[in-house]
Amino acid sequence: MRRLTSILVLLTAVMTVQAEDTPLIGNVLNRQTTSLNGDWHYLVDVQECGYYGYRREKLSYGFFRNAKPQQPEDLIEYDFDKAETMPIPSDWNTRDQRLFFYEGTVWFHRSFNYQPKAGHRTLLYFGAVNYEAIVFVNGQEAGRHVGGFTPFNYDVTNLLKAGENFVTVKVDNKRSCENVPTLIFDWWNYGGITRDVLLVDVPQTYIGNYSLQLDRRNPKQLNFSLQLSAKEANRQVTLSIPELKIRQMLTTDANGHVSTSLKVRKLQLWSPEVPKRYGVSLTLGPTDSDASDMVSDSIGFRTIETRGKQLLLNGQPIFLRGISIHEEKPNGGGRANGPEDAHTLLSWAKELGCNFVRLAHYPHNEYMVREAERMGLMVWSEIPVYWTIAWTDDDTFANASRQLNDMIRRDQNRCNVIIWSIANETPHGKERDTFLSRLSRQAHDTDSTRLVSMAMEVLAASNYHNKLQDNMNEYVDVISFNQYIGWYRDVKDAAKMTWEIPYDKPVIVSEFGGGAKYGLHGAKNQRWTEEFQENLYRENTAMLDKIDGLAGTTPWILKDFRSPRRLLTGVQDYYNRKGLFSDQGQKKKAFYVLKEWYEGKK
Ligand code: GCU
Repeated sequence: MRRLTSILVLLTAVMTVQAEDTPLIGNVLNRQTTSLNGDWHYLVDVQECGYYGYRREKLSYGFFRNAKPQQPEDLIEYDFDKAETMPIPSDWNTRDQRLFFYEGTVWFHRSFNYQPKAGHRTLLYFGAVNYEAIVFVNGQEAGRHVGGFTPFNYDVTNLLKAGENFVTVKVDNKRSCENVPTLIFDWWNYGGITRDVLLVDVPQTYIGNYSLQLDRRNPKQLNFSLQLSAKEANRQVTLSIPELKIRQMLTTDANGHVSTSLKVRKLQLWSPEVPKRYGVSLTLGPTDSDASDMVSDSIGFRTIETRGKQLLLNGQPIFLRGISIHEEKPNGGGRANGPEDAHTLLSWAKELGCNFVRLAHYPHNEYMVREAERMGLMVWSEIPVYWTIAWTDDDTFANASRQLNDMIRRDQNRCNVIIWSIANETPHGKERDTFLSRLSRQAHDTDSTRLVSMAMEVLAASNYHNKLQDNMNEYVDVISFNQYIGWYRDVKDAAKMTWEIPYDKPVIVSEFGGGAKYGLHGAKNQRWTEEFQENLYRENTAMLDKIDGLAGTTPWILKDFRSPRRLLTGVQDYYNRKGLFSDQGQKKKAFYVLKEWYEGKK
């Protein structure tokens, strides 16, 4: 038995190396793909006995083998084909009532017929899996990923076969201090395969990722760079933007990389009023042994910069009329994950008079960002470095750094994304400053065309004077902070408040607000009534008008959202009730106060 186990362990180790962690492929939505969305079988494995033995040793014959009894006496204690199914993408919490509060391991499994193309490669792509995913194809491990809100892909060419195949994913959403986000957070810890699953068919060498954006300071210059999936020199790359009569031939260097700058005239810049995007196509010329590759995209061009306390879009001062949004379905909770959900949520923001949305507190799905670009909404995108992270843990930093990189690499060509946020409400301290300043540098080095910020806090006033002080001011381009006057503090004193933001940078109030139960009415000093929230918005907006350098706000929040930290029976019932819309999409009175205020900011 012991000898057999060691042979099996050895075999597994050898087989695992076949599928490497492949750099994130860019613009997957415009590639040759086969969707694996649909009904997947699932097994809830509270004690992870499909992965670990009773000595907590890793099993080489775990559930990922999808074993079937061969002889009558064979003992197999799981059978995916008989197990229940749920539609993927989704979260298990709202798909199976027994799993509403569940945090742990769930196995997902589906089989599929696939005919790999000769001479081509196949990537297995996940839009997101919360939180830890261990992915197996035909019983062989393809890879492991942590982080619930960013995409990842594996080259599974060597694991697939013509005909019947199966994929098995061990998903675990247990929280822990070292994770990103950490142990506690004010949103529902939806578990599962929450976004698209795709098989991506590409040539042996393909267009890995690329960036095409207007130079941050020079609106007459386009900067283009492209990285092949392999370090192949002398490959022909063609960039064409027919509407601009641009057709540029480029040749890759020894690293399989090209970059160039192009002078452009008569460019219609992207703006909320005119969300203009250009058709772009990228072609990788064929070689004798390899087919060509082609990717098309719709890309807008704009400049975003700061000048002192001013925020400038396309060189013009702009006020960000924003709202914060969680990635939850418009009606009734559950992870949002498609173009329809995105369109509905963003239409509500448009109704408010918004030109900007803060996608909190983690990268939302790609449909959300692309739909916002199409609808003329600028975006603040954030990684879940939220509250008190394990600042001195190297793995925690590597995790946060990877999420930042993947967030940027996925959306680097979305011109409506103007701000990368590296954190929310983090406690002051040396370790924190070191951690965050490294992330800020990484964001600036990775992407020179956008601004970097984070949500700081102003937790108290002395003698009605609020002063923001944060060492991180020098590492961000825009000073953003959350404040809850009227709700968590100084309930009656908004009108008396004065503000001091001693930094010569634009200011965004990234959160303010208060809760109300839709349909609950009463005196304006009665908590939880719509009148209380309405009054809070009236007083806060008047107070914010006094802030020097205020360049935008993203009140908390568009819609009531689920949170395990909100337990007031009959009012919260596991919902954070600070939405301007109820969880069923009904407008609360405060909605109209903000809409009116934004009218005046146009
Ligand atoms: C915080 C935090 C949010 C939270 C909100 C609240 O500021 O950033 O995630 O939901 O406050 O208390 O409602």
